[in-house]
Amino acid sequence: MADALPTCLLDGKLLPTAEARVSPLDRGFLFGDGVYEVIPCYRGAPLRLEAHLDRLHDGLDALGIPAPFERADWKAHVAALIEANGGGDLGVYLEVTRGAGAGRDFLPEPGLRPTVFGFCWRLAAPRPQHLEQGLAAATLDDIRWLRCDVKSVALLGAVMLRMEARRRGADEAILVRDGHLAEGSSSAVFVVRDGAIATPPASRERLPSITRQVVGDVLDALELPLNEREIRTDELYEADEVWVASATREAMPVTRLDGCPVGSGRPGPLWRRAWDEFQTLKRREAAS
Ligand code: PDD
Repeated sequence: MADALPTCLLDGKLLPTAEARVSPLDRGFLFGDGVYEVIPCYRGAPLRLEAHLDRLHDGLDALGIPAPFERADWKAHVAALIEANGGGDLGVYLEVTRGAGAGRDFLPEPGLRPTVFGFCWRLAAPRPQHLEQGLAAATLDDIRWLRCDVKSVALLGAVMLRMEARRRGADEAILVRDGHLAEGSSSAVFVVRDGAIATPPASRERLPSITRQVVGDVLDALELPLNEREIRTDELYEADEVWVASATREAMPVTRLDGCPVGSGRPGPLWRRAWDEFQTLKRREAAS
């Protein structure tokens, strides 16, 4: 857990995080009525900011929440937040809720002003132990809703699943629905078998992960084809390698699944190549 840095963004203004206040009538608080983004930032530069803003706006459109800012303003606010907190490698969180009403009504009253909150934290480098030994994951039935393509702040399903994974000694929950892979509780999932790399396609069962796009570019650079197709649950157990990818974890190897080794039980050779290339790509993009 990384602590919030001292300066946050609230409704377009920078202020001390400890002093930021949001109404308890905010629909984000009462209903989880909002969307969010987590954007990794390397050497003060956000990675794939455009793609994150696209996804944020897609989510706002899906919920019928008016976009609070134009693109250029979002970029200026994100840059100001990063600078106010000293730059470096950060996780940047942005949240937009439908705003606070006069009371509590499922049906939003017209004319609400969206609430915008942003804060950041120091992005820790992956632990050497995780790079050398990989992560443990537990497969769990996906108990979440049917619009997992929306990055909603209503994350109770993911919280419960992550707690259950932890109870089973695992770092991540890999979610399955009707005999196939959905995604991780907070990650995209890749499966490798006999040198073939696969990940499930875009659908309402999973978030359109930005890190998945980055991994796609990394694999392109390595001239390794990526298969987009549904993945049966049993393929997870037969895989040589399983990777989980997200804004905060990049792409990490899963070496134990439900207590059993994945492939050799060590981080696999294709993951290692993808990891090295990911490091090159992120530093190059941060510098440009
Ligand atoms: N979560 N799927 C889910 C359900 C997620 O919550 C996330 C990321 C991903 C990966 O998406 P991306 O590559 O864009 O980070 C997939 C973030 C990191 C979070 O909620 O903290």
